[in-house]
Amino acid sequence: MVPELEKPTVRILRPERVLGIIRAIKEQGSSKLQVISDFDMTLSRFGCNGRRCPTSHNILDNSRVVSEDGKKKLKDLLHYYYPIEIDPNRTLEEKRPLMVEWWTRAHDLLSQQKIQKGDIAQIVRESDVMLRDGFNELFDQLYKHNVPIFIFSAGIGDVLEEIIRQANVFYSNVNVVSNYMDFDDSGVLKCFKGPLIHTYNKNNSVLQGTEYFQQLSGRTSIILLGDSMGDLTMADGVPSVENILKIGFLNDKVEERRGKYLDSYDIVLESDETLDVVNGILRYILLET
Ligand code: TMP
Ligand code: MG
Repeated sequence: MVPELEKPTVRILRPERVLGIIRAIKEQGSSKLQVISDFDMTLSRFGCNGRRCPTSHNILDNSRVVSEDGKKKLKDLLHYYYPIEIDPNRTLEEKRPLMVEWWTRAHDLLSQQKIQKGDIAQIVRESDVMLRDGFNELFDQLYKHNVPIFIFSAGIGDVLEEIIRQANVFYSNVNVVSNYMDFDDSGVLKCFKGPLIHTYNKNNSVLQGTEYFQQLSGRTSIILLGDSMGDLTMADGVPSVENILKIGFLNDKVEERRGKYLDSYDIVLESDETLDVVNGILRYILLET
C-alpha cells in the first residue's frame, strides 16, 4: 500500500489501525481531506550533517540585526527553557506558564532590536534554514489536488511565510496561523500581535475568530503533522473529524520520549529528516483509481 512505511525510521504501535485510517481517508477522497501541520522542526529540518537547523525564532536570533548582547540573552533563554519544553517528566500544566514566560521574554528582546520589516527576506536568505527533503512534492501534491494545508505555528509568522515564499511553495491552498510581528509606520518592529501562540496552546483557544476550520467543515479527514506533544491538539477546532492520522517527528531525546510519542502519534518518525512517509501516504490516498 505505502512502501515508505517500511523505512527503518518508522515506528507504529498499532499498524492495523493505521492502515485502516489510511484506507478510510482514501475512500473518502481528496475533497474531504485537509492537512494540519506544525512548521518548525516538522516542515523545516531539525538537523543537517550533525548540525542543528534554526527555528523561525533562531533565524532572527542568529542574524546580523540582533546585537551581541541580545544574542546572548536569547541564547540563555533557549538553554533554560528548551529542556523544559521537551522534558517528558513534566506535565503540560507545569510547562504552560513557563512557555508563556519564554515566548514573552524572547519577543520583548526581539522587539528592542529595531528589526526592519524590509530586512526579513534577506535574513531568511542568509540563514541555515532548510525545509525537509520532499517538501516540493508535499506542497505540489496538495495544491494539485486542491487539498488545503493549515500551518499552525508557535514560531514567527513573518519569517516562516518568507521561508515558504522563497521555496516557491506558498500556493493559494496554504494558510498560516502564527505569531506575527507588528511594525510601526516606518517599518520597525515594535511588538508582536496577539494572541500569543506557544508550544502548548496550539488549540481552539488561539483560533477564536479565524473561522478557518468552520469554512472547511466538510473536510472531515485529517492528516496532522507535528514534532511536539503540543502539536497533538492542533485539530481540536475542527467541527467534525471522521478520520485523523497523526504523524509525529521524534527529533530529539529519542530514547526518553519514544514511549509517549508512540502512545500519542499513530506514526512516529525517528530522526527522519524527510517527508518521504507523508508523501508516500498522500500519493496512495490521492491516486486516482
Ligand atoms: P512549534 O514548532 O511548536 O510551532 O514551536 C516553535 C519552536 O520555536 C519551539 O520548539 C521552541 C522554539 N523557540 C525558539 O527556538 N526560540 C524562541 O525564542 C522561542 C520563544 C521558541
Ligand atoms: Mg515544531
